[in-house]
Amino acid sequence: MRFIRAVLVVGALSLLLGLTAAIAMAAEQAGGPPKRGCLSCHTLEDKATGKYTLGYWAQERTKADYNRDHPKKALDGASIEPAQVVSVKTCLGCHGAGTGDRMGKGKFSNLSLRDIVHPAHMFSGVFGDRYNTSCFTCHNVNAEGRFDLLDEAVAVNEKGIPKSLLEGKGTIPGALPSSEVKK
Ligand code: HEC
Ligand code: HEC
Ligand code: HEC
Repeated sequence: MRFIRAVLVVGALSLLLGLTAAIAMAAEQAGGPPKRGCLSCHTLEDKATGKYTLGYWAQERTKADYNRDHPKKALDGASIEPAQVVSVKTCLGCHGAGTGDRMGKGKFSNLSLRDIVHPAHMFSGVFGDRYNTSCFTCHNVNAEGRFDLLDEAVAVNEKGIPKSLLEGKGTIPGALPSSEVKK
């Protein structure tokens, strides 16, 4: 009898442990409210390498595609070294959409940021699998139907609605009009 009781207790305990682990995993996968804005993901996680700031990716990808260094300074002289956390505005100084004879290119680089980040994120297993992502991860559609860009990490409710809008402020902190509509 005592043996059976012990077996039952052990069985119940392991079932409980298994369940707790499963619940913890589910919670980790759901990962809380949706992330919105570049800086909700591109934070400095490792000072030595700069993983995973915007500047880190600029260096990493320029090495991979051209086997050379990405510029370490923006046009205004601000540092874009990998370990530096910078706003996407800094990147748009060179990668904003070009006009006139630079149509189809960036303002300074051959590539606009739009042409880099759309495929790089939409075709990335990590971006799609680890996070609950969509166009609204980086954008908000404004009254003119244009896609404003979300730069800062936006505070949102569990459905991704910005808290600033829920509070009646009418604007999202750090939301930028697309570089393509600026004259
Ligand atoms: C939900 C998290 C998340 C958000 C928000 C996010 N990114 Fe990313 N980003 C990633 C991940 C993950 C990768 C790595 C993709 C891979 O390696 O497959 C990445 C990669 C990149 C890269 C490297 C591109 C390449 O050629 O491989 C750049 C540049 C970048 N992000 C810029 C941005 C910008 C600019 C924004 C805001 C407009 C932004 N990201 C918003 C998760 C995010
Ligand atoms: C001073 C101008 C300048 C600034 C600022 C700048 N870049 Fe670049 N970027 C370049 C140039 C130049 C290249 C190389 C491609 C070319 O020849 O135009 C490049 C290449 C890249 C590439 C490689 C694209 C690929 O996959 O081959 C990525 C990614 C990138 N930049 C992201 C960024 C991000 C993110 C920022 C902001 C942190 C940024 N860049 C800021 C000039 C700039
Ligand atoms: C990882 C971040 C990210 C994601 C995800 C993303 N975009 Fe973008 N998008 C950008 C960036 C960066 C730009 C360039 C903004 C600039 O030049 O000012 C841009 C520009 C645009 C523009 C031009 C802006 C305008 O209104 O003229 C459109 C349209 C757009 N995106 C649509 C989409 C759609 C549709 C999706 C989903 C399928 C999407 N984007 C997903 C980052 C993102």
